[in-house]
Amino acid sequence: MQNNLNLNAIPKHIAIILDGNGRWAKKRLLPRNIGHRKGAYNLKDIAIECNNIGIKYLTVYCFSTENWKRPQPEVNYLMTAPLRYYKKYKDKIFSSSIKIKVIGRRDRFTKDFLDMINEVEEKTKDHNGLILTLCVDYGSYDEITTAVKEIALEVKNGNLNIEDITSDTITNHLFTKDYPPLDLMIRTSGEYRISNFLLWQMAYSELYFTDVLWPDFNKDELIKALVNFQNRNRRFGGLKDDSK
Ligand code: IPE
Ligand code: IPE
Ligand code: MG
Repeated sequence: MQNNLNLNAIPKHIAIILDGNGRWAKKRLLPRNIGHRKGAYNLKDIAIECNNIGIKYLTVYCFSTENWKRPQPEVNYLMTAPLRYYKKYKDKIFSSSIKIKVIGRRDRFTKDFLDMINEVEEKTKDHNGLILTLCVDYGSYDEITTAVKEIALEVKNGNLNIEDITSDTITNHLFTKDYPPLDLMIRTSGEYRISNFLLWQMAYSELYFTDVLWPDFNKDELIKALVNFQNRNRRFGGLKDDSK
């Protein structure tokens, strides 16, 4: 499989909607949380793979602004398990080359959770490998609304003319302002929707959907998605030379 992958045309920025943890567990008559645990371990493996392959940005959807609607025990698990996981693995994370960023709202986390985010970002900020961005309490509506408010304030304060607002102005107010364009968006678990993820950023990204549940999305599945991406004809509204 790896043989088909062109190492000279690796996408720079890929995103994954990590979906299907609950169904993975249900299929095995296990509690949903076991699926989340398995999903977290899988994220570690896939991040390491992406780093090895030479992908520069991996942006993953871990918890949406809507996921607070889940039953309280599940929300509790999702908001506390990362703390235990982090404690166990932080030395490994600090000694790896992966840089970790967290984007999303920051006003609904516990202090422990916030401290963890601040620490992992600080300790990995000079790492020069993969930039792994965890989207937690993230929603595109929230991100774009916040950007619009910031821009409106700049106009109100006289620091920006309305005529000077371009699409770049909006891009530059998003959490992902320093990131390259999104090349490939993957969603696991057979759902064909975006669920409020990176709506602006995916304007020209390639979309890849697979029925594989996130905990089963292994290296071979990743390579399959990348090979599929490499066979796409990205036109960005123009025409390819060979189709003129
Ligand atoms: C994705 O798995 C992880 C989160 C949204 C936190 P799900 O929990 O959505 O799993 P399914 O979709 O119920 O199988
Ligand atoms: C999207 O998955 C959010 C994450 C993967 C974190 P959901 O499982 O919450 O999405 P819906 O409810 O199926 O659209
Ligand atoms: Mg789901």
